[in-house]
Amino acid sequence: MTDALTQDELKADLTLEQLQQLVGLVEYDEEGDVFPVTGWDSIVFVVGNATQAAHYYQSAWGMQLEAYSGPENGNRDHKSFVLRSGSIRFVLNGAVDPDSPLADHHRRHGDGVVDIALEVPDVDRCIAQARKAGATVVREPEDVTDEHGTIRIAAIATYGETVHTLVDRSRYDGPYLPGYVAAESTWVKREGDPKRLFQALDHIVGNVELGHMDEWVEFYNKVMGFVNMAEFIGDDIATDYSALMSKVVANGNHRVKFPLNEPAVAKKKSQIDEYLEFYRGAGAQHLALATNDILTTVDALRANGVEFLDTPDSYYEDPALRERIGKVRVPIEELQKRKILVDRDEDGYLLQIFTKPLGDRPTVFFELIERHGSLGFGKGNFKALFEAIEREQEARGNL
Ligand SMILES: [Fe+2]
Repeated sequence: MTDALTQDELKADLTLEQLQQLVGLVEYDEEGDVFPVTGWDSIVFVVGNATQAAHYYQSAWGMQLEAYSGPENGNRDHKSFVLRSGSIRFVLNGAVDPDSPLADHHRRHGDGVVDIALEVPDVDRCIAQARKAGATVVREPEDVTDEHGTIRIAAIATYGETVHTLVDRSRYDGPYLPGYVAAESTWVKREGDPKRLFQALDHIVGNVELGHMDEWVEFYNKVMGFVNMAEFIGDDIATDYSALMSKVVANGNHRVKFPLNEPAVAKKKSQIDEYLEFYRGAGAQHLALATNDILTTVDALRANGVEFLDTPDSYYEDPALRERIGKVRVPIEELQKRKILVDRDEDGYLLQIFTKPLGDRPTVFFELIERHGSLGFGKGNFKALFEAIEREQEARGNL
């Protein structure tokens, strides 16, 4: 089944070839996998105002509303908006009841990712494996049924207060989960707007506390059978003021990739420390959204008011960088105009850009990534990027 597309990918009209290009999908032998993962199921956020966030992610990011749960259909605790772009499902939850646990979560962490839900073919097998390997099971496997069928669902804890819900939706054809009703965007796309601004999710980075990165790498290796990908240590991603260590784990088919960062000692506070302070602990730092046309996507997002990190002109004019990146699909000037970064490795190159934080706290943000053979994460850009982040940190008085 390694060459099969998921229901979400089929719905997004994506082909296997496109996915190999977009997110570096690989073939693998599912037989020997102790914890088979098909791919992403949904990324669940808790936000301070889901009603307005749902509008922002539709109007600025071109996502489409497809399901809803709230007081109007019996959920008196919170509002929940399910949005889609390409094969990715985002869920935005905001407390309605002041006593909702979501209100407490938001008070402590601000806007952020609470659940990186994964689609798995066999929930019970995964939970048995997770328990055997010492993971914390936060929801025992159960069937949940409505008129659209039955889902099998469970959840395990990962870093911070983040969880991985595991879902088998092979017997379900409703709009999201039981309890949700189908919904349609009230936001109408403008004439000439692209169909969608990104097609798939490439990776989600987790920030963990100093000294804990290897623990979490081991968690993904032992509990979930994830394999190690690239490895970045020490000087590779250090500037004078900030430093971090990062290792990357991926599921068998590489649909799901988790770089894990921890702060490293530097002269001043690292961006990971800033995150840990304002998120009050470990959590998801950024989501990389895959696009096949980053130039059009960035132009559309800027026109919609989305703000990106700045990159100094010196980055583009640096002869060493020009030499390193060689020839890419557009003139460097086109990238410079848009502040898009470029990195190359032995397999090819990638184009990427990072947004400013999405909420009020300097925590979660998005990356846009366009891969051309490279299976990396932009290691060569880390220094240039961190220098840009530090200028922002300095402006906030947190450096
Ligand atoms: Fe990234």
